[in-house]
Amino acid sequence: MKLIVASDHAGRRLKRAVLVHLAAKGFEVRDLGVDDSTERADYPDYARPLAEEVAAGKYDLGILVCGTGTGMAMAANKIPGARAANCTCEFLARMARAHNNANILALGERVLGEALALDIVEAFIAASFEGGRHQARLDKIGG
Ligand code: RB5
Repeated sequence: MKLIVASDHAGRRLKRAVLVHLAAKGFEVRDLGVDDSTERADYPDYARPLAEEVAAGKYDLGILVCGTGTGMAMAANKIPGARAANCTCEFLARMARAHNNANILALGERVLGEALALDIVEAFIAASFEGGRHQARLDKIGG
């Protein structure tokens, strides 16, 4: 499974923890930035390129981190083919994959403790889309 991650300045510490966690698990992960500096980084500048890569099929799943997860999810969902879900618990992460075929997980560093965030990442990666009636609903969304 190929993964890609990105964050703004408010999500850089959690993004680093996600990267370390996934690397330890043996995943191939590309880091689109932001780097570890504390300089302001606007979330759309990271959400859009990541969403384009995922929507183009270059990566199986993407993970975006900002302060709340909201801005990243909003920006990513403007890209056709990107289905980003801002998840605050494992159940949401699992259902986002199983029912909504989400291909991008958005996380909020100012919302989640690191251990919970990593459990959410695990749940998102481990789940799979159930298809069937759920695909029919996604078809009605389009894009
Ligand atoms: C940055 O201050 C913050 O607004 C951003 O990381 C994010 O939470 C927006 O949705």
